[in-house]
Amino acid sequence: MRALRFVLVGIGARSRVWRRVLEEHPGCDVVGLVETDPGRLAGASAEIPGAVGGPSLEEVAGRVDADVALLCTPPGGRHGQIAAACAAGLAILAEKPLADSLADAEAHVSASAVAGIPLAVGLNFRYLAVTRALKMLFAPDRLGPPEFGRFTYERWRDGQLPRLNKYPLAMPYPMLWEQSIHHFDLMRFVYDAEPVGISARTFNPSWSMYDGHANVAALITFTGGIEVTYQGTWAGNWRTMSFDWRTECRHGIAVQREMFGDLAYARRDDPALTPVPLPEEEPWVDDARALLEDFVGHLRHGTPLPCPGFDHLNSLRMVEACVRSASGEGTVTLHEPEG
Ligand SMILES: NC(=O)c1ccc[n+]([C@@H]2O[C@H](COP(=O)([O-])OP(=O)(O)OC[C@H]3O[C@@H](n4cnc5c(N)ncnc54)[C@H](O)[C@@H]3O)[C@@H](O)[C@H]2O)c1
Repeated sequence: MRALRFVLVGIGARSRVWRRVLEEHPGCDVVGLVETDPGRLAGASAEIPGAVGGPSLEEVAGRVDADVALLCTPPGGRHGQIAAACAAGLAILAEKPLADSLADAEAHVSASAVAGIPLAVGLNFRYLAVTRALKMLFAPDRLGPPEFGRFTYERWRDGQLPRLNKYPLAMPYPMLWEQSIHHFDLMRFVYDAEPVGISARTFNPSWSMYDGHANVAALITFTGGIEVTYQGTWAGNWRTMSFDWRTECRHGIAVQREMFGDLAYARRDDPALTPVPLPEEEPWVDDARALLEDFVGHLRHGTPLPCPGFDHLNSLRMVEACVRSASGEGTVTLHEPEG
């Protein structure tokens, strides 16, 4: 069977992971490179000499036979990329967030549906071993269903570092669109629940390097009555990062204290936490690899599309609800509660 042919669109920070994962996959080839920055395009083209390079997906798709467009571009302004992929019949794997507004993301999802093009979103955190193990702790014979939780993510994100993207420095709500989107998606995924209502505040501390609000505080109600208190910041004032997600369940608690691991649980009367063993993995790479495997499985064998765009809209609705709530709308209702 011939390899699946990928066109990589956007050759910035995130593309490095995808390039490595694609190059190491025996069933995938990079046949096209799209980048608006000529220097970056030239650098990548020198490293992948067989690939067709150009400044737009429309142009490159016209010069090379391909199967997939992998979008590693900033989330704003992807209309042309989505239209070009649909016109060329390329399946789409788009980095999160699918867009920088809910309306644009909805437009992308419906454009791909009309064209009959699968559209998946790069929600790699779903594929971490710690995420899978946490989800399993909520089984009825273990901790039982979650009822409430506290999710804190406190990070000094130096957005000036050369290895990091620069566009979030000017986004109106960089934390929400770029980072909380992962957290909201994880909550929906591990709790197997949809948001019912959100009340949020956002702000920027005096030392923040971001133009838009780097801090988010939210109270979120999910289906099943699960209540989550969320605090996220990219302007936490210590370079050492803190991640702490504690979930209270019928029989005890689950705690995840690192982004890529450190999972433990306790039943109510346990004197100490019990660590959950996790397999060794290479953060960012193994999770992208597992997501790619599911994406390839869908294209090759018709297995379910991972992280479909229409599902991602439910996480983006949470982001948008936070913006609306923080702008004065109070508690924003999403899904109606069950029953
Ligand atoms: N899943 C994750 O864990 C993760 C991690 C980092 C970034 N991301 C996401 O990946 C995406 C890209 O982020 P990044 O950090 O690589 O950003 P970046 O700014 O480093 O790279 C984006 C690249 O796209 C290029 N570009 C912009 N518009 C283009 C267009 N129309 N056509 C072709 N190229 C264009 C830019 O010149 C730049 O080289 C974002 O959506 C971001 O949220 C995801």
